[in-house]
Amino acid sequence: MSYIIADKLVKKFGKGDAAVAAVADISFQIEEGDFVGIMGESGAGKSTLLGIMGAMNAPTSGQLIVDDIDIYSLGQEQRADFRREFLGFIFQSFHLVPYLTVMENVMLPLVVVKAARNKKREMAKVALAQVGLLEKAARLPNQISGGEKERVAIARSIVNEPPVLLADEPTGNLDTKTTREIMELLLQFNQEGMTIVMVTHSPACANYAQRILRVTDGRLAEDESKQRSIEKWERNERKREPLLSQDQKIVAASPPIG
Ligand SMILES: Nc1ncnc2c1ncn2[C@@H]1O[C@H](COP(=O)(O)OP(=O)(O)OP(=O)(O)O)[C@@H](O)[C@H]1O
Ligand SMILES: [Mg+2]
Repeated sequence: MSYIIADKLVKKFGKGDAAVAAVADISFQIEEGDFVGIMGESGAGKSTLLGIMGAMNAPTSGQLIVDDIDIYSLGQEQRADFRREFLGFIFQSFHLVPYLTVMENVMLPLVVVKAARNKKREMAKVALAQVGLLEKAARLPNQISGGEKERVAIARSIVNEPPVLLADEPTGNLDTKTTREIMELLLQFNQEGMTIVMVTHSPACANYAQRILRVTDGRLAEDESKQRSIEKWERNERKREPLLSQDQKIVAASPPIG
């Protein structure tokens, strides 16, 4: 059974005749450790789909199964627990709290975690070190650059070490160099085993994914899994020693659905 299963997802906004399906019957499966890109025109339904996958936005019909759990059959509280334990989010508009320091922003998701404050600080430090921002931990968001804000948002999204990371245009407004840094960071998390689903408009960013889901008018237009897997593998092979796990992943890559 696949790690994430989206089965006939539909999300309609509005009522009766005026209802519009932002997501109109989308099905796919994602394996553990996949790096999936979601592309498509503005208004195609990408963020809506990501919201459904993030247990934040119930579909009008269809099912989302993650790790054998039927997410929208859970009650509100259980679903919130699931979100906390399973998911990291990176939103395009960083959502940093302006009056909290970098460190405090990163510690936010840990508010609900039962652990000593010292332990939480340690976790936040580890996350900040991973994005290379430990030395700016005491600054406020308006004292760091846009790219650094993005990295704080990433540190915050991984501070509780979630198995799944959902990112909505994580490099939306960043320059090429910073974008590359962020993407290399995400690639590193992915290679450490994190499953990543990332919405992006940028082909350069999408290239980091093993597989691209292309959404058009709320439907899945294309699933480029195999080709992407091969390209990624070739790219990795050029960059470093071939990774057996990467190789195995291609063999295990799921066939396009639908
Ligand atoms: N809460 C809402 N109420 C009504 N319509 C909505 C709502 N959220 C999104 N929509 C509509 O659903 C469609 C898909 O929106 P969505 O935000 O998923 O697009 P997107 O692919 O993420 O676009 P972009 O690339 O611009 O972010 C759009 O037509 C949008 O106007
Ligand atoms: Mg969007």
